[in-house]
Amino acid sequence: MTRNSFPQPITRQEEVEAKQKTRRVLKGFTKKRANLIPILQAVQRKLGYLPRIAMAEIAIFLDIPSVDVYEVVTFYNQFRLNPPGKHSVRVCLGTACHMKGGYITLDAWERRLKIKRGDTTPDREFDLDTVACVGCCTMAPVTVVDEKPEAKVEPTKVDGLLLAFEREKQQTSEKPQ
Ligand code: FES
Repeated sequence: MTRNSFPQPITRQEEVEAKQKTRRVLKGFTKKRANLIPILQAVQRKLGYLPRIAMAEIAIFLDIPSVDVYEVVTFYNQFRLNPPGKHSVRVCLGTACHMKGGYITLDAWERRLKIKRGDTTPDREFDLDTVACVGCCTMAPVTVVDEKPEAKVEPTKVDGLLLAFEREKQQTSEKPQ
């Protein structure tokens, strides 16, 4: 089953930069199809995600159809089609979190942020994804927000966490420059 949804649009400037960076990464590889996954991993490390333009460059380099690259990217959970947000939200769907309602938590984040897992909000504030067990099962259901595991994240806690971000953003914008 694929997880990623469609890539969101990026600016012309981002496209140009992504193309240049992808070409630089490609210089470190030989033109063998077997290199596809290592190339995708290296490009994602560089860009933080795999935009259309990067996939197209990779397809040209390996002389394979773009759709083959796209299929691999959407098949593996490790690849992201969209740019990272300012804040990362990772909902744990390991066994303990799953048993304690991890999917309900995921649904709550998806509804509040109005995006699906694998996506980034249009303002690039949040990106949402899922993870396997993060090693703090007694706190289930867990959501890791900006690397910090949050315990017992049920829908009301999702609201609380988002409110805290909203307040923080307001306070930052009210601070005298
Ligand atoms: S299953 Fe979620 S922290 Fe272990």
